[in-house]
Amino acid sequence: MQKLIVGNLKMNLLTVAERDRYLESFERELKNLPEHQTEIVLCPPAVHLEKFVEKLKLKNVFVGAQNIFWEERGSFTGEISALMVKNVGCSHVIIGHSERRKYFAENDEAINFKIRAALKDGLTPIVCVGESKEEREIGDTARVISQQVNQALVEVPISRITEIVFAYEPIWAVGSDVTPTSDDILEVKITIKKLLVEKYGVSDVEKVRVLYGGSVNSKNVSQVCLQPQLDGVLVGRESLIPVEFLKIVSLIDAN
Ligand code: PGA
Repeated sequence: MQKLIVGNLKMNLLTVAERDRYLESFERELKNLPEHQTEIVLCPPAVHLEKFVEKLKLKNVFVGAQNIFWEERGSFTGEISALMVKNVGCSHVIIGHSERRKYFAENDEAINFKIRAALKDGLTPIVCVGESKEEREIGDTARVISQQVNQALVEVPISRITEIVFAYEPIWAVGSDVTPTSDDILEVKITIKKLLVEKYGVSDVEKVRVLYGGSVNSKNVSQVCLQPQLDGVLVGRESLIPVEFLKIVSLIDAN
């Protein structure tokens, strides 16, 4: 299974000049990794999607959105649809990030609608799930993750489940400096895969990638994602620094 690294650039790259510098630096640094095997997905703000697609026509590099709305078109001021994202050349979309759940009141039902819209229009959904600090402390992690996965999969045909990428992103680890242990990450991954097999009857569950996200950097990536369980990572802050981001790629490649 090819490994995957997702860069979530969040609400950054504020000017055209900043965006262009980022893209130039990314391309320059990537030249040092011409044969990288890890699939890279960069998710810039929506205003930069088209430019990223235009500039990053490189092997194993893809562009994704950070969010979509579930309707395809119409009177939904301020929203963008899966089809619009697809039509500018993107292939992926992050869905259900904890910042969207927190600041935009996205609930599991909305997340499920978005996943179905993404699949319908040919985007790979990268679905974020994760527990809060309190939930972890009372030992509720497996239940919370299972519930989020179950809600995510409402009315998703079983045949399409393997197209979904899950990202385990404990809320307390995102944007902080702490990470779970590799055992904790593995446990969540097993919880998700078991659920897919036992409840949904997914026969080729090995095709489902479960990433880890939350404070990943080039110093901790080897520890938080032990081989061979590593499917990849979702990187926030460090993806803003191409040299650091690509260092993570080369470490995953080397594993
Ligand atoms: P971080 O963000 O790497 O800055 O913790 C991760 C994320 O938001 O997915």
